[in-house]
Amino acid sequence: MNSRRAHDRCSRCLMMLLVMLGVTASSPAARAEISTLRLQMLRNLAAVERMGEGIAVDEFGGVQDAAKDLEKWAAALKEEDVVQFGLDPAMDAKWDALLSAQQESARSIRKAAEDEDARGVLLGIQLLHQNACLACHTTFREPFGRKAPSTMFMTSFLSSWREMQRGLALADYSLIARQAREMQSLARVMSWDAVIESTFDIPEPQERKAFRKIVNGLAVSASRIERAATEEDAGAVLDSIRKSWEDGCIACHEQFR
Ligand code: HEC
Ligand code: HEC
Repeated sequence: MNSRRAHDRCSRCLMMLLVMLGVTASSPAARAEISTLRLQMLRNLAAVERMGEGIAVDEFGGVQDAAKDLEKWAAALKEEDVVQFGLDPAMDAKWDALLSAQQESARSIRKAAEDEDARGVLLGIQLLHQNACLACHTTFREPFGRKAPSTMFMTSFLSSWREMQRGLALADYSLIARQAREMQSLARVMSWDAVIESTFDIPEPQERKAFRKIVNGLAVSASRIERAATEEDAGAVLDSIRKSWEDGCIACHEQFR
């Protein structure tokens, strides 16, 4: 009961935050490229997580692979023209320099992993964050209003899904139910007209109606996940998780992304 009230409070804070953040409008052409960049960024984050998992279980091969990926991806991003990400061409050199920093820190992580030196890997991860990830975000993300408000919803959905997988693996049904409630309160906020208009940049009322219908579908699936988790019914949990993707995530991405 308390957690429900806390969720409503959390929804209200989120709403206020979104109103304060305002809109990030970008041209439809740039949007597709930005989506690609965001997915790349989620992979960057996953690579850092893989490094932590590697040192946690003394499996340094996995750390080396993750570091190699970060080097490779930085090289590939250097080849891209920054204009397609909505940035000024004059910033190309700075963009490349930050990607070189990513390559350099990733290389130092790889070397430490070759020596099975967990402390060296940790120091490398710290440098990676400071000199590449955080440095680039403070240079190119925040000042350009590129901290898209939609990201808050999407990364929360994704992390709820991840936690549900963990819940299933550990047979921790209360974790699954908690995440399902989290999804429902986010979906509730995401169904508000003002949020759809400003955060997802959808000016047409008819389109907002279609958007809301899908969001409501996601909320229904999430409530089914919650019920199945409360009953500790793994089959029903799996089934309703799959439906939440089909009727929620995938349905909406096909139409609105
Ligand atoms: C050369 C610049 C640059 C580097 C280096 C960089 N990022 Fe990013 N990152 C960006 C930009 C720009 C965005 C904003 C994209 C947008 O939403 O328009 C972003 C967004 C993100 C996001 C949010 C993705 C989303 O769903 O919107 C995550 C997570 C992220 N970065 C993680 C990382 C991690 C982890 C690293 C380091 C391993 C890293 N980034 C390195 C430029 C960079
Ligand atoms: C009602 C619409 C809608 C639903 C439901 C929805 N999404 Fe999204 N999602 C979007 C849109 C629109 C974008 C593109 C945002 C942009 O480019 O500004 C997006 C982008 C994303 C991204 C790319 C990263 C980012 O920050 O843009 C991820 C990851 C994502 N969604 C995950 C999910 C997951 C997982 C679910 C289901 C649990 C889900 N989404 C449900 C509309 C939706």
